Amino acid sequence: MKKTIFLLATVAMLVACSQTEPQPAASDPAEAVMANILNRKSVRSYTSDTIPAAVMENLLRAAMAAPSGRDIRPWSFVVLTDTTRYDEIFGDNFNMRMYKQSAAVVVICADTTVVRPPRDNPDAPAVQQPNGTWRDDMGAVTENLLLAVEAYGLGACWTACYPYVDRMAPVKKALGLPATVVPYCVVPIGYPAGGEQPKDKWDSSRIHYNQW
Ligand SMILES: Cc1cc2nc3c(=O)[nH]c(=O)nc-3n(C[C@H](O)[C@H](O)[C@H](O)COP(=O)(O)O)c2cc1C
Repeated sequence: MKKTIFLLATVAMLVACSQTEPQPAASDPAEAVMANILNRKSVRSYTSDTIPAAVMENLLRAAMAAPSGRDIRPWSFVVLTDTTRYDEIFGDNFNMRMYKQSAAVVVICADTTVVRPPRDNPDAPAVQQPNGTWRDDMGAVTENLLLAVEAYGLGACWTACYPYVDRMAPVKKALGLPATVVPYCVVPIGYPAGGEQPKDKWDSSRIHYNQW
């Protein structure tokens, strides 16, 4: 009897160790953050479960915590759940299957301009001017959203919109974006149907110390 219990326990332990599922949240904050970052992956298939409104709000709270040049925060978000409009909004887009299967699609938009006094004359009246760092800011906000998605056990995929004119045009028109605002990317989010695993991208040859 003792032998059987020992054997069962060993098999259970081996099965647990062989699983490649994301690790449970670590109690050490650094480990928890590292696990979150390293477990993030593009998820392209979702269950039919919906995302609670409070969770969606927290995802967007995390997104908005991103850094931005001169703290301009050029981002806005259009959260979509009405799949009957997706053909109009996204047109002939090869990511459509993902969009329609997901619980929600977040269109992350960027204002390419900022209304501020000129940089070289801070006392002058504010004028609308190009924001030179909006693209960088948008990468940061998108990654923040993806990491929060991972933290909530959800899955998402960053899909490009900017700079492709054919992808941006129907989105801009259907959602009524202001002239200076571009749809930067489209992020379908849902509970993972399973399968996708994080990639190990560690590559020490990409690191140079003190000199290339
Ligand atoms: C700028 C950008 C555009 C992307 N566009 C698409 C896309 O249109 N469709 C898609 O399925 N994945 C898209 N991806 C996801 C990448 O394919 C994915 O991040 C890459 O293969 C690495 O895999 P991982 O996210 O699982 O680490 C995009 C990612 C980025 C950063």
